[in-house]
Amino acid sequence: MALFGRSTQQLGQVDFDNLPRHIAIIMDGNGRWAKRRGLPRTAGHAAGAETFRTIATYCKDIGLEYLTVYAFSTENWKRSAEEVSAIMGLLKKYLLEAIGRMERDRVKMEFFGDLSPLSPELQEMCARTREISKHYEGCQVNICLNYGGRDELVRGAMAFARDCVQGRADPDHLTQEQFGNYLFSRGVPDPDLIIRPSGELRLSNFLLWQSAYAEFYFTDVLWPDFSKEELHRAIAAYQGRDRRFGGV
Ligand code: FPP
Repeated sequence: MALFGRSTQQLGQVDFDNLPRHIAIIMDGNGRWAKRRGLPRTAGHAAGAETFRTIATYCKDIGLEYLTVYAFSTENWKRSAEEVSAIMGLLKKYLLEAIGRMERDRVKMEFFGDLSPLSPELQEMCARTREISKHYEGCQVNICLNYGGRDELVRGAMAFARDCVQGRADPDHLTQEQFGNYLFSRGVPDPDLIIRPSGELRLSNFLLWQSAYAEFYFTDVLWPDFSKEELHRAIAAYQGRDRRFGGV
């Protein structure tokens, strides 16, 4: 298929008619990217946020249904106050921009994580973004903010237990599908492809429940250098995999 005048061949063998429905990305390597350039870590996050914008826009353009990114984990609070504040500032900047472009882009935005420790201003922006875009269809971007896979599972277990105590749920009859509705990702299909740049080969508490049958793509490229071409390589690798979901 020709896309924007280029052939599939030139785009690293991507079959744009058979894209994964859901791609999730661990945006890693911002700090190392900055260090290699003698810049402060915060400059790496600023470059990483730009890459997020480029990749998210491109995903929408090619018709991807769901993109989920790990922006701030439950463990990231251990970083210096300056670095945490820089990341929060970037989130604010890009959310404001997204709100400004919403009518045009019509990208639905969701947030996975407990937003209550964020500043009231940022919480309000997340709520507004969610509210404005909730009826948009086509592409959904999920930003994981103060997110941790174990935290999500414990919160889900607590909510289920509360429902049991109040007689709204039965502890002897819980299906995987029902439990999925207690998670931040309720209503979103599991990721088909999880990408982790920067050479680290681990999940770091990302989408622990949802990644059960995901395909993984690791690359040494640092997140700020992650390009559309690199995304094509990841999708092409995914398309070459044989997904059996436990069958034969
Ligand atoms: C991991 O790299 C990156 C983060 C913890 C922050 C990611 C945040 C952004 C890209 C900016 C804001 C996001 C959006 C959605 C606008 P690292 O710092 O752990 O890198 P290192 O392992 O090289 O130190």
